[in-house]
Amino acid sequence: MISTTMQTRAHVSRQAVKLARAANHALVGSPLGLRLTCAGAAQHHHHIAASPRLFSTTPQNHLRDFFPAKDTPRILVTKAAWPHPGYTMEEMLAVEPAHRKPRTFSDWAAWKIVRFARFLMDKATGMGRDQQVDKNNPTTSVVAQKPLTEAQWLIRFVFLESIAGVPGMVGGMIRHLSSLRRMKRDNGWIETLLEESYNERMHLLTFMKMCEPGWFMKLMIIGAQGVFFNALFLMYLVHPQVVHRFVGYLEEEAVHTYTRAVREIEDGHLPKWADPKFQIPDIAVQYWRMPESSRTMKDLVLYIRADEAGHRGVNHTLGNLNQKEDPNPFVSTFKDREPPNPVSKATGYERGDVI
Ligand SMILES: [Fe+2]
Ligand SMILES: [Fe+2]
Repeated sequence: MISTTMQTRAHVSRQAVKLARAANHALVGSPLGLRLTCAGAAQHHHHIAASPRLFSTTPQNHLRDFFPAKDTPRILVTKAAWPHPGYTMEEMLAVEPAHRKPRTFSDWAAWKIVRFARFLMDKATGMGRDQQVDKNNPTTSVVAQKPLTEAQWLIRFVFLESIAGVPGMVGGMIRHLSSLRRMKRDNGWIETLLEESYNERMHLLTFMKMCEPGWFMKLMIIGAQGVFFNALFLMYLVHPQVVHRFVGYLEEEAVHTYTRAVREIEDGHLPKWADPKFQIPDIAVQYWRMPESSRTMKDLVLYIRADEAGHRGVNHTLGNLNQKEDPNPFVSTFKDREPPNPVSKATGYERGDVI
């Protein structure tokens, strides 16, 4: 009788140890348990499947497609609702990290919130001290002692993009409702804002084809969206200008992140992505209409970075405008000049130059 009890106890404690180990692995095995299966366009890559599976227990060759195209009896294909305007390679290579110096208290506050978010992000992705860039120029410096790994990059990308798609939708929605309510025209802001959030969602969907987030990461994303959406909603009702400035700063961080990723790919620190057999997802090739000669992971990051640079220029500009009366200069025809180009105007246009 006693021995049975002891056996049971021993069994229970062994189970407890196993459970603790599993939990420990989920939380420590990857930074804060933001687990991802990073197979990178897993469909065709056997060589990647051979590498150790650090981020999930899902065998990589069994990574399920999150959103396979639905096969219906009648529909041939569903096009992207907002076709991408496209970039030239020169335009994409010209994008650089930049920083608009805060001028007002609200600029400063918006910037500090973004900086704090990045601080949390660095912690959550387990970024080591030696992986951080120059503290004095955090948004423009892209040099660090130690590169990030592909998995660390993907965690950043996925988290960043899941957040980035929120503000455009909030701004577009509030301006839409405001136009209905006040019975006044909106002057072209709504479409730009909605298109921005659509574009961000395409970024996320592209990375989702390479990664399967673990439950912890999913939980973090749901939580972040709940907080972020509501905070932005309230803030946009009261101070839309500040929200555009905030997004401008967020996009500075995005451009910084992708510039550093491009650099680390170029420097050979991310061998999986530099591998010529590595194929980027079809969804990306179609959305950006990427020419056959430039469909590497580096090209993909260049496209996304140019998008972020566009959002940066747009939002810093919108943050300079009169929210109630000014038309959206990016969809306007000008009397005496070409329309402004947000991709190349990192710190945004001054109101006097575009209105
Ligand atoms: Fe994005
Ligand atoms: Fe963006």
